[in-house]
Amino acid sequence: MPKSLTITRPDDWHLHLRDGVMLQGILPESARDFGRAIIMPNLVPPVVTMADATAYRSRIIKALPKNSDFQPLMTLYLTETTDPDDMAAAHASGLITAVKLYPAGATTNSDSGVKDIKNVMPVLEHMAKIGLPLCVHGEVTDPNVDIFDREAVFIERVLAPLRQNLPELRVIMEHVTTSDGVDYIGETEKNLAGTITTHHLIINRNHLLVGGIKPHYYCLPIAKRESHRMALVKAATSGDKRFFLGTDSAPHSDPNKESACGCAGVFSATNTMACLAHVFEDTGALDKLEGFTSLHGPAYYNLPVNTDKITLTRHDTPVSFPEKIETGAGPVTVFDPGFPLHWSVG
Ligand code: NCD
Ligand code: ZN
Repeated sequence: MPKSLTITRPDDWHLHLRDGVMLQGILPESARDFGRAIIMPNLVPPVVTMADATAYRSRIIKALPKNSDFQPLMTLYLTETTDPDDMAAAHASGLITAVKLYPAGATTNSDSGVKDIKNVMPVLEHMAKIGLPLCVHGEVTDPNVDIFDREAVFIERVLAPLRQNLPELRVIMEHVTTSDGVDYIGETEKNLAGTITTHHLIINRNHLLVGGIKPHYYCLPIAKRESHRMALVKAATSGDKRFFLGTDSAPHSDPNKESACGCAGVFSATNTMACLAHVFEDTGALDKLEGFTSLHGPAYYNLPVNTDKITLTRHDTPVSFPEKIETGAGPVTVFDPGFPLHWSVG
């Protein structure tokens, strides 16, 4: 069993950093291990214009720990009134790396999202032309569709037709949670990739619901049954370049999670690399970890890989991570994988 593993510094291709005192409190948790991250634009109000993204980026840079080289890769929140020229200018200037599609009402702070994909077709056509990738929250919001089926139905009703109409558009299906998602991506030759979160590789819906409801395991897309989790582990550890890490680390304060109507989001920035090393070791696939966390993402986004390395060390006795991160917006509980962690970074 290897005692240490040196890999190219990882990136996080789906991350929520929030704003203000929450941003200040949780940003060091991502900046410690990750080189870059795709920053989700679902603030209140959302990051819609080039001016919004410029200002948000400066707030992130200002909140970074001293001497940190962490690079936020900005995104714009797609609305039905997005101005294609403003978006193209943000792309041409190098400010934004992707645009994010939230179906309206699908998840936390998605009220300004897209109600009907037809209404954004001109913008998507423009994105295809200029090579600007689209990150997709792949769940339908139809109240008649069961929450556990929303991803599979999204593929059938929205994603497959969209990709048929606009095959040149580069799409990232984010936080894939089902074997349907894995299979759909696996069947596709080009212009489609999928991110997988740390927590969806570890928990299934029993962890969330059996023996009492666990609000800190509640996120969207919701964790599915075990067979889906196994399909995700297989995809992540396969070495298939179409799958890479997007933690979807999404902090909410404990009072907002531990509530009669708790917010969706799992916060895993603090121990993600330790959790992933555990999962990949368990699967006998430690040699595939670097691809998943550090190589496949940059390849899909046409970006260089990070030039520095990190070393993961395996300890005989379990490593402890903080249970909570204290922020000016309240305590944020760190993802509990439910098993002892033996890996640390450094
Ligand atoms: C995210 C959040 O809290 O912003 N929540 C989540 O459960 N993943 C929103 C999202 O990415 O869906
Ligand atoms: Zn997210």
